[in-house]
Amino acid sequence: MNTIIDSCFDKINEQGTQVFRKKDNQFYLHPWEDLGSFGGNDRTVAVGGEGIYLFDSEGNKLIDGPGGMWCTQIGYGREEMADAIAGQVMRSPYYSPFNLTSDISVLLAEKLARLTPGDLNTVFFTTGGSTAVDSALRLVAFYNNCKGRPNKKRIISRKDAYHGSTYLSASASGKTRDKNYQDFATDIISFIDSPNPFRKPRAMSVEEFRDLKVKELEDKILELGPDNVAAFIAEPVMASGGVVVPPVGYHRMCLDVCRKYDVLYISDEVVTGFGRLGHWFASEEVFDIIPDIITCAKGLTSGYLPLGACIVSDKLMAEMGGEQAKGVIFSNGYTYSGHPVACAAALKNIEIMERENILEHVREIEPYFLSKVKELEDIPIVGNVRGQGLMACVECLLNPEEESPLELDYEMGSRIDSQCQAMGLIVRPVINMNVMSPPLIITREQIDEMFKILRRGIEKAMDELIRDGLWEMPN
Ligand SMILES: Cc1ncc(COP(=O)(O)O)c(C=O)c1O
Repeated sequence: MNTIIDSCFDKINEQGTQVFRKKDNQFYLHPWEDLGSFGGNDRTVAVGGEGIYLFDSEGNKLIDGPGGMWCTQIGYGREEMADAIAGQVMRSPYYSPFNLTSDISVLLAEKLARLTPGDLNTVFFTTGGSTAVDSALRLVAFYNNCKGRPNKKRIISRKDAYHGSTYLSASASGKTRDKNYQDFATDIISFIDSPNPFRKPRAMSVEEFRDLKVKELEDKILELGPDNVAAFIAEPVMASGGVVVPPVGYHRMCLDVCRKYDVLYISDEVVTGFGRLGHWFASEEVFDIIPDIITCAKGLTSGYLPLGACIVSDKLMAEMGGEQAKGVIFSNGYTYSGHPVACAAALKNIEIMERENILEHVREIEPYFLSKVKELEDIPIVGNVRGQGLMACVECLLNPEEESPLELDYEMGSRIDSQCQAMGLIVRPVINMNVMSPPLIITREQIDEMFKILRRGIEKAMDELIRDGLWEMPN
């Protein structure tokens, strides 16, 4: 019936996984590729999926621990999604958003405006999270130009943040271990510290630590000069920086500081949006803030198709628009902004989440999920566990006092990954951090299965590290 898919299956059946691995090595440069091992990788070949499970070309059924890349909210294999996507392809597979509109994209824009908090009602569609952040940052600069404040351009971000892979969104990312061999827009981005309570001085209370981190924001604005600072960008919970859950009140206090100095607040909800924390968006419902701009992607389509959005407040739109703005063009956009097929996927995804009460399910199962994360704390190599909603991090530390050499941390992560995968769980650690963000439909029994394997995988990797003289059990 489907010739491309059938011929792909035929090929993998005839030629075997090794041939595909070889071609993968030969032709396919992957994100975050280590060029030292380019051409010599042994990647799992994904060929199918059902619910929370992925199937590989060798017949293995694997729990998808990271939920793809924090995005497979409703799980794999939904026929309804396939129907919605196919239906829109046959109806109207493309329109130019530069000069036309499309009914399906309009419906999605309206739906998003209703799901976002406060007066965030104007939706700019993008192709994913990086382009959503990029558009938000460009919009902020444009906004200040419109307001006649050409110097108000600095963006404040945080260490350990991840905001994407365009030049500008990567520049706003603060993961120092990702910063080698690349160039960044250092002249317009400044960083403050991550509000990770695990890194606070032992003698300091969490509240004192929070106040200190908020003060760092204020100090940075004052150091740069409020007239030069355009926006603060923050993930509600830092995702790939290691699921950094800030102290209670942190975001609210940061927003207050931003308001005091007329600095815009961009809430990057690319991961936390669409149910990851039990709500459509976490900004208001979980962290009590209504930002000026929200960026989202990933869970918007549950990963079925690429789509992102940058959603802007009425206040900002009004300040940029009006009579005086005639001929002022926001020259930013993509051939695939508001792509109708991706919008159909998003609308169907949201409909499924509503019908199956997936947000309620996340809120109900969160305490159980987090209790299972906490149980891993007793493994000697585990330095810290943390999480919120259905996102968690099990951070393994070879040396709890100081950062270990990067290669050693990678080695530990890769051993945990192989051990877990051999037992049926994909982990794909972020270096030494096992970040879990399973599909939101996960059940209690599946959570049990996932954490049982993760425990065994970490323990086995730990035994190997001891055996190979790379780590010693602390006394
Ligand atoms: C918080 C956050 N913002 C932006 C991005 C970039 O999204 P994308 O990979 O869809 O471009 C990511 C990706 O992981 C993310 O976690």
